[in-house]
Amino acid sequence: MVEETKPVAEYSGVTPPESSRQSKVGHLVGLPVACLRTMKRILIATTNPGKLRDFRGAAESFGVEIASLPNLAGLPEVAEDGPTFEANARKKAEAYSRYVPGEMVIADDSGLEVDALGGAPGVHSARYAAEAPLSGSGNATDEANNARLLRELKDVSPLRRTGRFVCLIAAARGGRTLHVVRGEAEGTILDAPRGQLGFGYDPLFYCPSMGKTFAELPPEEKARYSHRGAAFRKFLVWYSREADCDHA
Ligand code: IMP
Repeated sequence: MVEETKPVAEYSGVTPPESSRQSKVGHLVGLPVACLRTMKRILIATTNPGKLRDFRGAAESFGVEIASLPNLAGLPEVAEDGPTFEANARKKAEAYSRYVPGEMVIADDSGLEVDALGGAPGVHSARYAAEAPLSGSGNATDEANNARLLRELKDVSPLRRTGRFVCLIAAARGGRTLHVVRGEAEGTILDAPRGQLGFGYDPLFYCPSMGKTFAELPPEEKARYSHRGAAFRKFLVWYSREADCDHA
């Protein structure tokens, strides 16, 4: 498997077009602009097309390019059996960064915490409706997870249906975690789905500041309010200061 992975030089080192960089980098308050100008493409370890769309939506407004780790689907799966989002994010980033020596890889672990359910589904969000949700493998479908969430909340009043999406992003190189960031998005859980976009629990997650569910927002707009967008912006601040400038 490792031998089949293309040398990283073939897909890194690409900076966004001049026009894109100059018009958009100023949006990221606190980022040294000189560092953003030299930013490379960022390698991400996810096979989830919804997450990939979200990351690209978040990166777009900064002129940063997100590339999926090559041949990721052919690599051995990493069991997400850690007790926390951070443990799982680190585990994925460390494992996958070993396949691209010398390159930084980011991975995220994320989920929904519902207050009335004591923080569930939490780290088990992807497999909430699965036979063995604690096992770390065997995800359930989004539809089944959403149906279970609605069942669990059926007697809970609208005012008590508060919760948040949480996203931890770990950045690793050569099997070692370099940095971890966390983003959150507060909202409430509706009693019926709304919207066709997004993935996972998006159709049930109502964002009060937007007056819409996450499934009613295109990726770039969702990124402005989402846990993944918030974490990714923190990552970019760190990356521009510590990683890119140090290694330029
Ligand atoms: P994991 O990070 O691969 O363990 O999966 C996280 C799970 O949490 C997803 O399968 C979704 O069910 C849920 N989730 C995480 N982020 C989002 C989001 O942005 N929208 C909707 N559901 C999400």
